[in-house]
Amino acid sequence: MSHDASATPSAGLDTTAANRLMDYFDHHDQVWLFGYGSLLYKAGFPWLECRPAAIHGWARRFWQGSHDHRGTPGAPGRVATLVPEPGAVCDGMAYLITPAVFDQLDIREKNGYLRFVTELYFDDGGREEGLVYIATEDNEAWLGEAPDHHIARQIADSSGPSGPNRDYLLQLAATLRALGHADEHVFALERALLNLERGG
Ligand code: SIN
Repeated sequence: MSHDASATPSAGLDTTAANRLMDYFDHHDQVWLFGYGSLLYKAGFPWLECRPAAIHGWARRFWQGSHDHRGTPGAPGRVATLVPEPGAVCDGMAYLITPAVFDQLDIREKNGYLRFVTELYFDDGGREEGLVYIATEDNEAWLGEAPDHHIARQIADSSGPSGPNRDYLLQLAATLRALGHADEHVFALERALLNLERGG
């Protein structure tokens, strides 16, 4: 995987401008985008084709703070990002989109996420180069690793303009299950959240 890092020496809290400088797929009429968090369970943008897919060497983790969707600047929620992990496979959805769609995606993902170039492996075979939004640990909204019960507590207590943080986690878990994929990190957080909500 590579990233057009030349234009983005460090990821500020609003990454829109940095992503607009990403020119790797300039002159392409169509680009594959990989979604693994909200982009997996709720596209909300126009796509030409949509195929279950995976990327390799990355693990999904609820280590990114959300100030704009599932929390607020004063009380950030926790949402998914990807961290490098040799041998890991992250299951998600590949969308074939026109470059114009990045105008809205860059704004939706502006809280620390940068576009990276990656190889997408389709569940039904074949692979294509595409893009994925990743919030790396140098971004200002990064929260990092924490015990499951701590992350679940923060998710249970957080809400933002896009709705309760719990809905993000539960919808992601349900979508992975419907696709026939397991993600132990996501499922463990789901269990911890539901346990908390039962008063456990
Ligand atoms: C993604 O879903 O691919 C990026 C993170 C998010 O929007 O939740």
